[in-house]
Amino acid sequence: MESGEPHQPAPPRLLRGARRVLLDNWTGTSTVPSRGLYPHQWSWDSAFIAIGLRHLSAPRAQRELETLLSAQWGDGRIPHIVFNPAVPLDAYFPSPDFWRSSRAGAAAGAPAAVETSGIVQPPVHALACLLVHRADPRTSARRGFLARLYPKLAAWHRYLTEARDLGGHGLVAVVHPWEPGMDNSPCWDAPLKRIEPAAPGTFRRADLHHGAAADRPTDLDYGRYVRLAADYRDRGYRDDGPPPAFAVEDPGVNALLIASEHALAEIATAVGAAPAPHRARARRLTDALVKRLWDPATGLFLCRDLRDDTLIPERGAAGLLPLIVPGLPPALAAHLIRTATGPHFGLGAAARLVPSYDLLGAAFDASRYWRGPAWFNVNWLVERGLRLHGAAPLADTLRSAALEVAVSSGFAEYVDPYTGQARGTRNFSWTAALALDLLVASGGAGAEPVAWDRETAAVEAGGTD
Ligand code: SER
Repeated sequence: MESGEPHQPAPPRLLRGARRVLLDNWTGTSTVPSRGLYPHQWSWDSAFIAIGLRHLSAPRAQRELETLLSAQWGDGRIPHIVFNPAVPLDAYFPSPDFWRSSRAGAAAGAPAAVETSGIVQPPVHALACLLVHRADPRTSARRGFLARLYPKLAAWHRYLTEARDLGGHGLVAVVHPWEPGMDNSPCWDAPLKRIEPAAPGTFRRADLHHGAAADRPTDLDYGRYVRLAADYRDRGYRDDGPPPAFAVEDPGVNALLIASEHALAEIATAVGAAPAPHRARARRLTDALVKRLWDPATGLFLCRDLRDDTLIPERGAAGLLPLIVPGLPPALAAHLIRTATGPHFGLGAAARLVPSYDLLGAAFDASRYWRGPAWFNVNWLVERGLRLHGAAPLADTLRSAALEVAVSSGFAEYVDPYTGQARGTRNFSWTAALALDLLVASGGAGAEPVAWDRETAAVEAGGTD
């Protein structure tokens, strides 16, 4: 987006570029992850986007999260996509007429007024709400931001810890590979093998119009995604009844829930509610995470397949995400950091950014979506986790690399972890938002809201309160 410009120092260029991406991708009530590939609102995208957007406009970041939570289901779930009715059906697959949420999900409390998907994404929302609040506590208080969102966030966490504790061991299970957000991770290869794919002619992918096929999941993957989503829909998106064909305890989802549960304790305090139940739940989840998913042999948290109750022997970046858990035992945190900097993830050595999957794994592919490329949300979380557990110099190195690559890749969706070469789509919202957040944290931009240009200010005036 800035390729024709004369060379200039990275921070102003990053600031201007990130601001432009976030402005262009704003719809008036929320932000699309990308104009072409993902033209609706996505759940965990919005949480990460709000974390960066707060530096530009706290009210707009609040609005981002409010819009998402206004599509929450009666059972507490936050759907992974909230569809924009103005976008043509064929612009994205699976479209609202596939999910049919308002009818198929009615018994689970799907909203009648808006169409959504029926699956979920990782619970980054309470953490995002707290960070957005902190960016401008006065505006947040004036708008009753936390007070309005606290009960919704509590219901969301209740849904996950109750309806989604499918194994009965105190951890959240995902029922579709899109739920942990790392769609085609090699961690899902074995559990997905059991799934009969939907026939190729029965659906039409829209994603391949917007990117190289080599950067995206395969048709066989898609056939299985469609089958699992259709089966879940056809059981009314209910979580009781016979165990689903795909059910996995994922360390990333559970780590993000724990971090968000800690954030919810702080939100509870801010709104005059009791923080203790949230802290207690965070402790219980942390114990279960360590007991069920820690693998001392690999020095990593692994995924557990609930169909046979075994750990899946693949090293995915989700296994590093427990670094963001404040109460992680220090010895485990130290071991995880050694794993991150070792040959499988190459942090501070062979890799510029933390890859999504084992650099030495048989299934590693530096270009294909979640089978190797580095993603900015994962790197933002690892950076935060390194800082939390006392590895500030390493966090600084990672932050510098992320800032450089965000700009040089044109705010790519993901990048080759060795070279930083752009993969997937460009001008990707969470890449811009999280780079902006890292820049502000580094002192490379004012902590005060970054001035909008006139066009932005006009959108702002019509798009917030
Ligand atoms: N990430 C998935 C997609 O590519 C589903 O949210 O569409």
